[in-house]
Amino acid sequence: MRVVRRPQELGAALPRGGVGFVPTMGYLHEGHLALVRRARAENPFVAVSIFVNPLQFGPGEDYDRYPRDEARDLAMLEAEGVDLVFLPTPEALYPEGFSTHVEVTGPLTERFEGAHRPGHFRGVTTVVAKLFHLFHPDRAYFGEKDFQQLAVIRHMVRDLNFPLEVVGVPTVREPDGLALSSRNVYLTPEHRKEAPKLYRALLAAREAARSGRSVAEAEAAAKAILDTIPDFALDYFAIVHPGTFASLEDWVPGARALVAGRFPEVRLIDNLEVYP
Ligand code: PAF
Repeated sequence: MRVVRRPQELGAALPRGGVGFVPTMGYLHEGHLALVRRARAENPFVAVSIFVNPLQFGPGEDYDRYPRDEARDLAMLEAEGVDLVFLPTPEALYPEGFSTHVEVTGPLTERFEGAHRPGHFRGVTTVVAKLFHLFHPDRAYFGEKDFQQLAVIRHMVRDLNFPLEVVGVPTVREPDGLALSSRNVYLTPEHRKEAPKLYRALLAAREAARSGRSVAEAEAAAKAILDTIPDFALDYFAIVHPGTFASLEDWVPGARALVAGRFPEVRLIDNLEVYP
């Protein structure tokens, strides 16, 4: 496994074609490894980037304390048979005077995560566009855990004609249902016990849909569970169209429930398809 730190070295280190690319912010877990395994199964060459992207963190967010463990990440990727890992510094990707951004505008980025984290998606699409230019992948892999991010990246790829396929990979969960996230390490033991209720709320919405209840009834069933979580401030719970993220009054195929909220020490998000 080759480790590259300077963008200028990537050109010579990558093959011409056949690249499956997995962008990450490191502190890897089984969710990331699911992306890597899918990439390994579908591409002759697998490249992973590890970069905690300052552009996608707002003021007061957790950029400085975001968990990092380079040695552990590299050992995990080596064991998965990854061909190349890119580990740039912020200065290497954003040199002095950097002032070009890629932004998907409109309703897709204005609601939910876009409303609660201003500038977040602009930071994500800017770094992902840069990485796509550096790697020229045939396929790029993203987790469904960040379902809105996945939709925003698909939109950017379509609008800017990036010649690649975006592959969404299902969320990996702890046995109690909590979606894996690098940020779960922040949870206090008490809140770790409460956190699976986010998934239980999503399941309650799905159960309501399956038993023929309305979108409003499904939302009410989920919110009744979220209301019981101590110290948890709900940012949003909504059932939306899976492509446009418009709120729904009636069920549509693929309807997705989205949830986000904050314990004092960490913000959590999750989602689930609730209507087939
Ligand atoms: O999902 C993430 O880990 C990040 O948002 C990404 C896609 C690697 C861009 O920094």
